[in-house]
Amino acid sequence: MSKLPVIIDCDPGHDDAIALVLAFASEKLDIRAVTVTGGNQTLVKTLNNARKVLSYIGKRPRLAAGADKPMFRNLEVAEAVHGNSGLDGPALPETDYKEEPIPAIDLMRQIIMESALPVTLVPTGPLTNLGILLTAYPEVKKNIGGVSLMGGGIETGNWSAAAEFNILVDPEAAEIVFTSGLPITMCPLDVTHKALLLPGELEALRKHGGKVSVMVAELVDFYYRYHVGQGFAGAPLHDPCAVAWLIAPEIFTTKDYHISVETRGKYTTGMTFADRRPWTTAKPNATVCIDIDRVAFISLVIEACKSFG
Ligand code: BDR
Ligand code: CA
Repeated sequence: MSKLPVIIDCDPGHDDAIALVLAFASEKLDIRAVTVTGGNQTLVKTLNNARKVLSYIGKRPRLAAGADKPMFRNLEVAEAVHGNSGLDGPALPETDYKEEPIPAIDLMRQIIMESALPVTLVPTGPLTNLGILLTAYPEVKKNIGGVSLMGGGIETGNWSAAAEFNILVDPEAAEIVFTSGLPITMCPLDVTHKALLLPGELEALRKHGGKVSVMVAELVDFYYRYHVGQGFAGAPLHDPCAVAWLIAPEIFTTKDYHISVETRGKYTTGMTFADRRPWTTAKPNATVCIDIDRVAFISLVIEACKSFG
């Protein structure tokens, strides 16, 4: 079977970094490029983190820098979760691996238009790059196979009571994506809060001792501290869920919903509002992952780490 061509659009970010590890370990994905957006930290920092993580895991895909701020708003970063560097924890070596001198949306357009197979987009940060891509180059839609994204929440938010971080940072871009007509699979907080790496599993990973296993363990050491404070029993691996959907969809339970993105709410800006009326006539625009086989998911992540040696 041919591999699935994908472009990963990320803002590393601890869980973005783990999503990259999971993706690059998979035989099922053909990663045509990694593009970066400002999000968890400023673009300068998320790009630097992407360069270092990819280089450390021995992968040098085509890389391009995207937006340094949301389409119509100022950037809000998640320093409390990801630290001053956006990837606090492991000391990753400097690298000469660099982004290409082409904006992310132009690299995405080139790859999508030239691909013999439809390309799947995997955004794990704010949807700014996708929003700009679909607005500037609507012709790409005909060769995008789908979008597998981490973002939103049906029952809860995290960055506000109603909204999840990736969507709240750039709700206008998210609205463009959700109204694009593209096939969307969404991993909201409802599923990612169940995708927990538990302390015992973290220690097993550290014990494995491989360089990627140790990097991921050190990432989780930092990232987990914030989540312990919020009462989580483990570290929620949000972004790897969007990759896992492409590798092992059978571990997820899904529901199809029509999702609207709130862009102007007094209390609810950034909310991904699902029409859950059984009698609704609104056509679903997203397959929403609502549950996950946690053990199977964590074993995918751990095996991915171990596969690097
Ligand atoms: C999302 O926000 C970021 O902090 C994480 O990287 C993830 O993409 C979770 O709300
Ligand atoms: Ca992210």
